[in-house]
Amino acid sequence: MATTAASQSKPVVDAEALEIFQNQWDVYRKFLTHDYLSNAEACRVLRDFLAHDVARPFRILDLACGDASGIVRAIEPSQVEAYRGVDLSAPALALAARNLAPLTCAVELAEADFTTAVRTSANVNDIVWISLSLHHLETPAKLAFMRDVRASIAADGAFLVYEPTRRDGEDRAQFLDRFEVIGRRDWTELTDGEFAEALKHVRTCDLPETVATWHDLGREAGFARSQELYKSPTDLFRLFLYTP
Ligand SMILES: C[S@@+](CC[C@H](N)C(=O)[O-])C[C@H]1O[C@@H](n2cnc3c(N)ncnc32)[C@H](O)[C@@H]1O
Repeated sequence: MATTAASQSKPVVDAEALEIFQNQWDVYRKFLTHDYLSNAEACRVLRDFLAHDVARPFRILDLACGDASGIVRAIEPSQVEAYRGVDLSAPALALAARNLAPLTCAVELAEADFTTAVRTSANVNDIVWISLSLHHLETPAKLAFMRDVRASIAADGAFLVYEPTRRDGEDRAQFLDRFEVIGRRDWTELTDGEFAEALKHVRTCDLPETVATWHDLGREAGFARSQELYKSPTDLFRLFLYTP
């Protein structure tokens, strides 16, 4: 594996991303270990999509990659030619470098804001993936970001989004209440303090869209087709595929 790391010259200023890493990463690791957010199944669906639908050599851009522990299993058996991960957190990127070590393709990790990284990307991307990070943007900012992704993607490329998603007709308060009920019932390995911390983050920061809005955003961003590939068993998270 050839790993290169690029850093923005200006200091990282997204206090929230750093705070998540410094104070909540151990909690997030528990979510991954026990698959409370169904990341593993979403990555299995991504793996199958890459193997059966893409089925050719491709370059992938992983936005807000975190520690890349899930995606590495999705791309390792595929025809990946190059992996580029972007995250604001240097400690997360250090873990990602370790987790991506089994890949034999070129690996590049960049410490940057994902919206800037897409807007300024000189490369044409075959596959763009974002997971559990886009929901912090307001709807107009999601659309602007998705337009930039559309502009950066190859004619036969694909954009995949795995994010918390409201049911159609469900408002944010109803979604958050449902999230809390499911969490209290299922996330039994979290301490009371960890659960409270996670819930505070979600209630403060998360801006999930409805299913219909995710499809509308894709159309308005210039994608010809959008398709739901996966819904988590809790019906809190969904995976959407957008194609030019
Ligand atoms: C919940 S984790 C998700 C990580 C990974 N995508 C996954 O599915 O496991 C959110 C990640 O997004 C990063 N992040 C948050 N805001 C960001 C931004 N504006 N630009 C780049 N990374 C960001 C955080 O540092 C963190 O690693």
